[in-house]
Amino acid sequence: MTDSTFTLTEAERLPAAEREAILADPGFGDHFTDHMISIVWTQADGWHDAQVLPYGPIAMDPASSVLHYGQEIFEGMKAYRRADDSIVIFRPEENARRLNESAVRLALPELPVELFVEATKRLVEIDADWVPRGADQSLYLRPFMIADESFLGVRAAQRARFMVIASPAGPYFTGGVKPVSIWLSQDFARAGHGGTGAAKCGGNYAASLLPQNVAAENGCQQVLFTDAGDPDVIDELGGMNLFLVRDDKTLLTPALNGNILPGITRKSLIQLAKDRGYAVEERAVTVTEWREGVANGSIVEAFACGTAAVITPIGQLKSPDFTIDFGDAAPGELTLSLREELTGIQYGTHEDRHSWLTEI
Ligand code: PLP
Ligand code: COI
Repeated sequence: MTDSTFTLTEAERLPAAEREAILADPGFGDHFTDHMISIVWTQADGWHDAQVLPYGPIAMDPASSVLHYGQEIFEGMKAYRRADDSIVIFRPEENARRLNESAVRLALPELPVELFVEATKRLVEIDADWVPRGADQSLYLRPFMIADESFLGVRAAQRARFMVIASPAGPYFTGGVKPVSIWLSQDFARAGHGGTGAAKCGGNYAASLLPQNVAAENGCQQVLFTDAGDPDVIDELGGMNLFLVRDDKTLLTPALNGNILPGITRKSLIQLAKDRGYAVEERAVTVTEWREGVANGSIVEAFACGTAAVITPIGQLKSPDFTIDFGDAAPGELTLSLREELTGIQYGTHEDRHSWLTEI
């Protein structure tokens, strides 16, 4: 499929004054732009019928496979407006590749990388007025794919739909770059060996909601999942990867062992840290190591990272049995400086030396 096959149905746009009122304080995931993308796949005809449509409800047969067996995958990425008013998307090819890895695991069709990038660019282009101008604001893009064949047998669907919607976004965690508290989930695992942990599929998030509720009941903003077979081995948070910082210029982060999402922010930060001469150990990291490291002063910072969360300092890890506490409320030095560099690249105040940005 080529560029020219997209058809456009212009939406009746939200009046500018209403849009600007939303952009003044967009929150996260509460508001949506005027348009959306839809591309259909059938086993017989492949990808076809690429359209830019007015944003709105989609009709779906109640027997659609996604509603019964959860055959769904998604992505999360952002478009940024820079001081010169240009707009860029951060590493969209990486999201395209990850979507395809998720597609393979969920028995959904792969989407050509160029088509994914073209579709996301199209939406940002047509809804460019929705890319906010404020500090720490962006247009969050949510590409997703659903199986929408009407059939109740349990098998891979022969019909699917890829869509992209967009939502103006402020910070995921409110209150500025303030350390968050994390709840250690001991009763629930997110993923096990051979499961779907490395795929970005809706089911992983459905499974994280009850533990996330438990975290909230315990005053925590996120939940930390550990290995299903070894509760000491750290996997990741419900919607973010995790890093620990050692005092000898070393970063520790769980290896991509098939159970955790291969985060694009994670990958970018590993690069930026190595560029600065830091060592990065991608391996099994344990709660015990974190606890002992904080107690003896060798682990000095912890942070979560992801598209929505950017880089968020972790102040506390809580469990029913113990609390790991960094003791002072200020975010760590490296956490803040990596955050500054990454967001600087995204917003155009730092050089994009790895060519991570795609201009609209
Ligand atoms: N882990 C999980 C479970 C996530 O949902 C996310 C967010 O997308 C991440 C990690 C971070 O991935 P990325 O940096 O690509 O946004
Ligand atoms: C993202 O960061 O894009 C995610 O999908 C995670 C979620 C917390 C919104």
